Amino acid sequence: MPRVLSGIQPSGQLTLGNYIGAIQNFVKLQETHECFFMVVDLHAITVPQEPAALREQTESVAALFIAAGIDPAKASVFAQSHVAAHAELGWLFTTLAYMGELERMTQFKDKSNGKDSVGAGLFVYPTLMAADILMYNADLVPVGDDQKQHLELTRDLAARFNQRYGDMFTIPEPYIPKVGARIMSLDDGTKKMSKSNPNPGSYIALLDPPDVIRKKISRATTDSGREVQFNPAEKPEVSNLMSIYSHCAGITLEEITARYEGQGYGAFKKDLAEHVVAKLEPLQQRYAEIRSSGEIHQILKQGAEQVSGIAEKTLRDAKERMGFLLPR
Ligand code: AMP
Ligand code: TRP
Repeated sequence: MPRVLSGIQPSGQLTLGNYIGAIQNFVKLQETHECFFMVVDLHAITVPQEPAALREQTESVAALFIAAGIDPAKASVFAQSHVAAHAELGWLFTTLAYMGELERMTQFKDKSNGKDSVGAGLFVYPTLMAADILMYNADLVPVGDDQKQHLELTRDLAARFNQRYGDMFTIPEPYIPKVGARIMSLDDGTKKMSKSNPNPGSYIALLDPPDVIRKKISRATTDSGREVQFNPAEKPEVSNLMSIYSHCAGITLEEITARYEGQGYGAFKKDLAEHVVAKLEPLQQRYAEIRSSGEIHQILKQGAEQVSGIAEKTLRDAKERMGFLLPR
């Protein structure tokens, strides 16, 4: 079975963007692939995290994976820091990467822009991500659009290792949804919806209560027109709301346009809010059950046990090829 790997950082409330761009595909792919889904806590600390919040968020993201439909009997769900080989293989790839290629990463440029002190971890972040993916020889990596560049670097690093030390790593392919790879912010149709945006009105968190969702959508920015039409260049905000509608209601963009012809944005937004609420309701209910049962600790433990044999073998092979004297 081909392999799939992806990860999400426990660095804030997961949003509808994470769900549509990534998690929804995780759930689909587990039926046809051998899957590895990680809570990437080592990545989260590339920006400062409050210890108690990091712990809580790690548990919360893992529980959201399960609540969204990832089945621990089909996929391995684990915390990155529970498998020590990630940090070590990450270091090996850090030594293979060039400053120049890391400096070109747009996520690094965005996150460091205007700051006087920038953590070194933020700079080498993509080499740890490469280690995550290559560790399990993943064939496919389901991510949103913003991770495409990191995946290209992963491919380059894999090829560089293979060329220097002999073929070992699979070159992975990105798996990016056609619609919804970049869900935009509710207050600005040119910025991606992000859990790190200081304005909570800019995103819908997966755990937002129904009334909060209704309020956020009713206040979402639109434009001075009244046609519900998909045109990201000229109507970025309305187009974004249409993508969300399409995903949550399971109908096409054309059907949405037809449904609201001549009605303006009011009716469209009102219905959209109900579709989002209905989509998230079962997820929120399962989330509450999983959290109160405490079962997430067992799921993470089992996940780490399932993958650690593969991870240790990859690390050992890579070290042997690179010339480390292995303990005998
Ligand atoms: P992060 O929240 O940065 O850990 O991202 C986790 C996953 O969600 C990655 O695959 C991202 O590409 C994806 N993602 C994050 N924000 C969005 C968004 N606004 N639209 C689509 N996908 C997203
Ligand atoms: N960098 C990814 C993000 O911010 C998270 C991540 C870490 C990841 N390791 C990964 C994604 C491996 C896919 C595969 O969204």
